[in-house]
Amino acid sequence: MNKMNDELNGILDKYKGVKGNTILILQEIQNKFQYLPEDALKSFSEYVNTPLSEIYGVATFYSQFKFNKPGEYQIKVCHGTACHINNAVRISEIIEDQLNIKAGETTEDGKFSLDEVACLGCCSLAPVIMINDKVYGNLDDKKLRKVLKEY
Ligand code: FES
Repeated sequence: MNKMNDELNGILDKYKGVKGNTILILQEIQNKFQYLPEDALKSFSEYVNTPLSEIYGVATFYSQFKFNKPGEYQIKVCHGTACHINNAVRISEIIEDQLNIKAGETTEDGKFSLDEVACLGCCSLAPVIMINDKVYGNLDDKKLRKVLKEY
């Protein structure tokens, strides 16, 4: 049995018999793997004898769940109000264009993933992005391209 199955069985056993446990289990799976791997969802669906489509139906309803493995560098573009009125859409477009991925996706080499998020809590620096734990603010086209080049 592989490591993923071992870890998954640990999670499933923990919630055995608990009512309304689907969300809790999905959250634990995501906490463990940083996203919801397809293999884990397949095993989960077999374990609870529920069609995989139903599991996906629940998971896709909630924006907290991710279906792509996060990149080595996780880029979060703030689309909160302050950032939105300060060109967050343009910021997202530039990053999507540079990396050739859309929000919610990961580059093929696994280096970058891109997400759009709500307020990152530093609105005075709008527009803001985070790359892993590092914040970059007051971005314009030129500054953003320079930041991306660093990676
Ligand atoms: S709205 Fe972007 S940091 Fe607050």
